[in-house]
Amino acid sequence: MKSKLGLGGHSFYSSLANEPVPSEQEQLNIVQACLDSGVDWFDTTYAPERIALGRCLQKLGRREEARVAVWNFFTDSTGQSETPAFVRLEEHHLAVMLEELKTDYVDLLVVHAHGDREGLKRELALAESWLRRGQIKGIGIGMCREEHLKELSPDSHVTTVFAPCNYFHQESLSLFEEAKRRGIGTFALSPFQRGWKLEQNGSEPAKTSELLLRWLTSQPHVDQVIVSMRRTEWIDTNRRAEQQGPLTEEQLAVLQGWQ
Ligand SMILES: NC(=O)c1ccc[n+]([C@@H]2O[C@H](COP(=O)([O-])OP(=O)(O)OC[C@H]3O[C@@H](n4cnc5c(N)ncnc54)[C@H](OP(=O)(O)O)[C@@H]3O)[C@@H](O)[C@H]2O)c1
Repeated sequence: MKSKLGLGGHSFYSSLANEPVPSEQEQLNIVQACLDSGVDWFDTTYAPERIALGRCLQKLGRREEARVAVWNFFTDSTGQSETPAFVRLEEHHLAVMLEELKTDYVDLLVVHAHGDREGLKRELALAESWLRRGQIKGIGIGMCREEHLKELSPDSHVTTVFAPCNYFHQESLSLFEEAKRRGIGTFALSPFQRGWKLEQNGSEPAKTSELLLRWLTSQPHVDQVIVSMRRTEWIDTNRRAEQQGPLTEEQLAVLQGWQ
């Protein structure tokens, strides 16, 4: 059965983790376990994430089963930063991403939002040209806010919005509701806020993660939830949490106590 969960690319990347980066074998096991359990969306931000995912999908021979999202973040040419800022999308960037991923198409090209309206329009127009050529299957806006949705032209080809959302930061729920009203898909990022929210007063991380995931995956306007999982065992654990469905009143009261 298809899952609302998707694998976050930070799973392959050490800089944003408490844990060391998984070994190549563990990365393969993680991607395989995801595909075997209906977790078929893979979100990637930084170049090393695309390279690791591309290698795994190629080794497993399962590219066609996976749906891959890429954002406009690239290797820092100065080599100074492991987590460089996003860059404005240019024509040559798609070839770079396809090469890193070892594929000839991506399922979603995500353009990071910013305040320069005309600049963002130009990037979205470039993405549309790739969509027409069949090199990408959909266009997302990353770190999207409601104002970005309102500025979209009626004939926009944007298919999806991406924004952080978890029980402690629910601001994006209204964005997701508006997106769904317009027929646009919704991806919620960081259900555990990078894992910083897993240790709550008196609650074990295992229980906290279950409650936070059940709350987010049962939101009616959330299509997919992107979570980092650097251990194969988390995939089964998190799938089981999702399958338990919405929280009971008592469980919601536990979450409220953490606010
Ligand atoms: N492009 C962007 O600007 C952007 C920004 C934010 C997020 N994102 C996307 O969203 C994804 C997820 O967000 P995130 O990385 O901020 O963090 P997150 O998914 O909120 O939290 C990840 C942490 O949760 C832990 N975890 C997962 N399942 C668990 C379980 N069942 N029990 C205990 N711990 C568990 C992981 O532990 P382990 O380390 O042991 O696996 C990891 O430390 C990212 O990978 C990325 O794809 C993108």
